[in-house]
Amino acid sequence: MKDAQFLMLKIGSLILKNRLIMAPMAGITNLPFRLIVKKYGVGLVTTEMISARGLTLAQKKTLEYLKSDPGEKPLAVQIFGSEPSVMSDAAVIAVEAGASIVDINMGCPARKVLKIGAGGALLQTPEKIKKIVSAVKEVCHVPLTVKIRAGWSSDKPVALEIARIIEDCGADAITIHPRYITQGFSGTADWKIIAEVKRGLKIPCIGSGDISTPALAFEMIRETACDGVMIGRGAIGNPWIFKQILDLEKGLKIERPGLDELRDLIMEHFRFLSLLKGENRAARMMRGLLISYTKGLACSSNFRGNISSIEDLDTLILYLDHYFSRLKETGFYN
Ligand SMILES: Cc1cc2nc3c(=O)[nH]c(=O)nc-3n(C[C@H](O)[C@H](O)[C@H](O)COP(=O)(O)O)c2cc1C
Repeated sequence: MKDAQFLMLKIGSLILKNRLIMAPMAGITNLPFRLIVKKYGVGLVTTEMISARGLTLAQKKTLEYLKSDPGEKPLAVQIFGSEPSVMSDAAVIAVEAGASIVDINMGCPARKVLKIGAGGALLQTPEKIKKIVSAVKEVCHVPLTVKIRAGWSSDKPVALEIARIIEDCGADAITIHPRYITQGFSGTADWKIIAEVKRGLKIPCIGSGDISTPALAFEMIRETACDGVMIGRGAIGNPWIFKQILDLEKGLKIERPGLDELRDLIMEHFRFLSLLKGENRAARMMRGLLISYTKGLACSSNFRGNISSIEDLDTLILYLDHYFSRLKETGFYN
C-alpha cells in the first residue's frame, strides 16, 4: 500500500491537497452532502450535473444547484448540454458563482440528457466535443475538466481517442468512468481503460468506478497509474471512506465512526439539509440517506420500517436514539 501517493494533485493552476475526489452524483451531491464529505478530508467535491441551458435561462431551480459554501472549496461545478455557446455562457455563470473548476459531463446515460445530444451522446460526436471544449476553454478562467465514459457501446471503445481530442482543446484534466453508455451501471468498470487513457495523455487522468472500499483506491492507482481517484456510491452513507484512505496511507489503523459520532453526523447532515430545504423536505430527503448510513448494521428492521414516517427532526431523533441504544445494548456495533 505504500507505493500509492494521495498527496497533492495539480489540475491546471489549482492545487488539490490530495488526490481524492467526490464524484458528481445527481440527486446526491448537493451542498449538505458535500459539506459532510469535506469533513473527512476529500481533496475536491463536485456538484450534481447542472443544465447549462437552465443556467443561461436563469431558471430558479437550476440556479439553486450553484449554491455553495466557503467551507467546501475547492468546488468543481459540473455542467451538461450540447450547444457550445450555451455551454460557454453556463461556464461563465458557474465561475461567477464561485466554481474552482468547471467540469463538463460527457458520460451521463440518462434518457432525458441523451435526448438533447448531451452527456454520453457526445461520445458519438467528436466534432461537437471539439466545439464545446474549445468554446468553454476560451471563456473559462478556472481549470476545465471533462468527465467521459468508455464510449457508446463496447463494440466501439473511444475513450482514448476522445480523451486526446479533449486534451488538444485545452482541458486541464480528464475523468474516465470506464463503462459504456449502453451499460448504464451494470457490469464492472474496466480499469484497463483508465490505464490506457492515462498512458496516452499528458494532462492528469482521474479514474472513477467501483471503489467501494479504501483498499480499492490503492488498487486503482496501482493498476492504472491514474493521477486521482473519484469515489461515488462508495461514499454514500459512508463519507468517512476518504479519511480511511488517508489514514491507510499514513499506516494508521482504519476505523469507522462510533455510534455517538455516527449520530452526530446524521444530525449534522439533517441540519445542513434543513437550512437549505426546510425541515419537512429535509426529513424526507434524509430517509434514503438513513438507509445508507445504517447499511449493514444489525437489528435494523424496526428502524428501517419506521424511516418512511419521519417528517421532522423530533421523530428522527426518537427513532434513531431508540435504534442506537438497542445497538449499544446488544454490543453489535463496535
Ligand atoms: C445516483 C448517481 C448519480 C450520478 N450522477 C452523475 C452526474 O450528475 N454526473 C456525472 O458525471 N456522473 C454521475 N454519476 C456517475 C458517478 O459520478 C461515477 O462516475 C459512477 O457512479 C462510478 O463511480 P462509483 O462506482 O464510485 O459510484 C452518477 C452516479 C450515480 C450512482
